[in-house]
Amino acid sequence: MDLGLQDKSVIVTASSKGLGKASALQFAAEGAKVMISSRSEEELQQTAEDIQAETDNDHVAYTVCDMTKADDIQNLVDKTVEQYGTVDVLINNTDGPPAGTFDKVDDDDWQFAFELNLLSFIRTTRAVLPYMRKGDGGRIINLASSSIQQPIDNLILSNTFRTGILGLSKSLSQELAPDNILVNTVGPGRIATDRVASLDQTKAEKLNISPDEVRQDTEQNIPIGRYGQPDEFAKIITFLGSQANTYLTGQSFVVDGGMVKAI
Ligand SMILES: NC(=O)c1ccc[n+]([C@@H]2O[C@H](COP(=O)([O-])OP(=O)(O)OC[C@H]3O[C@@H](n4cnc5c(N)ncnc54)[C@H](OP(=O)(O)O)[C@@H]3O)[C@@H](O)[C@H]2O)c1
Repeated sequence: MDLGLQDKSVIVTASSKGLGKASALQFAAEGAKVMISSRSEEELQQTAEDIQAETDNDHVAYTVCDMTKADDIQNLVDKTVEQYGTVDVLINNTDGPPAGTFDKVDDDDWQFAFELNLLSFIRTTRAVLPYMRKGDGGRIINLASSSIQQPIDNLILSNTFRTGILGLSKSLSQELAPDNILVNTVGPGRIATDRVASLDQTKAEKLNISPDEVRQDTEQNIPIGRYGQPDEFAKIITFLGSQANTYLTGQSFVVDGGMVKAI
């Protein structure tokens, strides 16, 4: 199948590592012009070099962008347009909010999670729309979590704002379909990134067991029997962001090896 991504301009936010990096790499492998971003210039430079070397694609640029900062987001889009002429695809990603139950989080935590996990996606979308509307349309994919289908214990902030992304995406899919801009949401279940390794480490210390034991315990609740790999997740993102996807919009998926049991 031809994904039609050759020379398309793609922004992937929060992409110096993990799911963002894996997604950027897949787009680069398809010949797209990719802009990666995160808060650390050093990490970004290395990641851009890694992706270029692995995909043989020189069109991998980077811009420092903290997703909680409006000016950084506008600058990211401006830099992408300066470099690649437009924006065809936006992959919205950011860090997860702090853990905690309702009693443990205060107004500052709520405000921070709103800005990091919802307002950031609103701002990136607003900034790219003029270019997508001027061109042939676009694809927007919002990365969330399996909590879009089933809340996760001790993650009240994530459970609240990830489902907010669903409402945003669905509304946008309706409003933007006439402009051929397709909007979808994808939630990872348990994909083996640094973040998941660090969550396992924290849990292991709390339970006084090894991180491997934590992982094996979690894997027992995943019908496919293992954590996913970042590239397995990224391939779904790449299809949704491609020209091969012409009719799928307003949908949400979890990529979780069958972990979530909700229908
Ligand atoms: N992996 C999973 O199985 C899983 C499951 C459920 C949900 N998720 C969610 O999926 C998202 C990505 O997770 P991941 O596993 O890929 O994490 P990761 O491996 O820790 O990567 C996180 C990326 O986000 C960047 N980042 C962090 N804070 C940022 C900010 N304020 N602005 C811009 N970039 C920022 C980091 O770079 P810098 O530190 O340099 O900024 C890094 O590139 C997170 O929201 C996570 O909660 C992941």
